[in-house]
Amino acid sequence: MPELYDTLLKNNKKWVEEVTEKDPDFFSNLSKGQAPPVLWIGCADSRVPANVITGTQPGEIFVHRNIANMVIHTDMNMLSVLDYAVNVLYIRHIIVCGHYGCGGVRAAMNNTQNGIIDNWICHIKDVYRLHHEELSQIADEEARYNRLVELNVVEQVLDLAKTSIVQNAWKGDKPLWLHGWVYSLDNGLVKDLDVTYGSNAELLDIYKFNE
Ligand code: CO
Repeated sequence: MPELYDTLLKNNKKWVEEVTEKDPDFFSNLSKGQAPPVLWIGCADSRVPANVITGTQPGEIFVHRNIANMVIHTDMNMLSVLDYAVNVLYIRHIIVCGHYGCGGVRAAMNNTQNGIIDNWICHIKDVYRLHHEELSQIADEEARYNRLVELNVVEQVLDLAKTSIVQNAWKGDKPLWLHGWVYSLDNGLVKDLDVTYGSNAELLDIYKFNE
């Protein structure tokens, strides 16, 4: 039995053959540039690949993934991706996609030390604190965990809305929509959390930038 690693390059060749057979211009077209309409901010979890679960092709989604799909305002990597996506690619939609069964969110719910990652996970504990009242009323631990996954996405979408990058885009003439999704590992379906923002109108005044 070959290891999975050995099959990766073979699979690549096979994929190129299949794609070019269907569309001989596929690679020459894509190599001219990209104009994806969507930015995906998802979990690094191997079971939640943006293109596969949305049935999209290379060139259609600009992707940023990290542990527990976080939008942290000191994260230069995330900010650079966001700025490029909004101000150079002019993407129309940003989707924060979390998933039930997220190890990062699970880690935030217990008190075990996991090393340096605890500093990252602490941002999820902050989400728990913000929604402590609601979460403390959910007796079943699994249900509480699922709800924290959802609330974490809600807060990350809001964290996007708080950025000057997104708010400056809203002042322009191109629409930009933020969305929050949760993916189910059990059945493959996405739940739209219906936390959509298309302007800063619904933000607390304290978060609104003038110019
Ligand atoms: Co995860």
